[in-house]
Amino acid sequence: MFRSSVRFFSLAISTLLLQPSTARADDMQVKRGEYLVTIGGCNDCHTPGYFLGKPDSSRFLGGSDVGFEIPGEGVFVGRNITPDKQTGIGSWTKQQIVTAIQTGLRPDGRVLAPIMPWHAFAHLTDEDAAAIASFLQNVKPVSHQVPGPFKPGEKVATFVFRILPPGQTAAGAPN
Ligand code: HEC
Repeated sequence: MFRSSVRFFSLAISTLLLQPSTARADDMQVKRGEYLVTIGGCNDCHTPGYFLGKPDSSRFLGGSDVGFEIPGEGVFVGRNITPDKQTGIGSWTKQQIVTAIQTGLRPDGRVLAPIMPWHAFAHLTDEDAAAIASFLQNVKPVSHQVPGPFKPGEKVATFVFRILPPGQTAAGAPN
């Protein structure tokens, strides 16, 4: 009786001691992820309005409204990387997010266009890649279905960064 209550108390104490420190470690991982996402330029390509000069911070990482045309490949729009289950990556596991960021491989088997800089992100340490995934799992979910990818010849539903051959005239910016 005495021994089992000692065991109970030591278990209770270690649970009390462990929980806050695990929570603190998770917190620190998310903070590290936030730092890496901030300097990693994710916001540029994944937040609507950014390329139009007015990033919409209320839809942070909720998917771009400007696609990149890769000649011969099509047009790829920075996708919704918030935890929204229907339109974002909310149904992906942390490991699936890490794999996409570091190898370009999505859970459905499609490999992301290299305009998503996964060749560079492949050099992240395991800890940093995990921290980015943790942060992404903790941002506010945004419901926004990003269109595409569009195949060459398909009609594109967003603004596009287009690569033109040399000798073109600079387009006048609309007012
Ligand atoms: C230069 C623009 C650019 C930058 C910078 C960028 N991405 Fe991307 N990202 C894209 C594009 C475009 C796609 C979609 C490519 C495709 O559909 O093939 C994408 C796709 C993704 C995907 C896959 C989502 C899905 O549904 O398939 C994840 C996850 C992702 N990016 C995370 C990040 C993170 C995290 C960062 C910053 C560390 C980042 N990206 C920086 C352009 C970018």
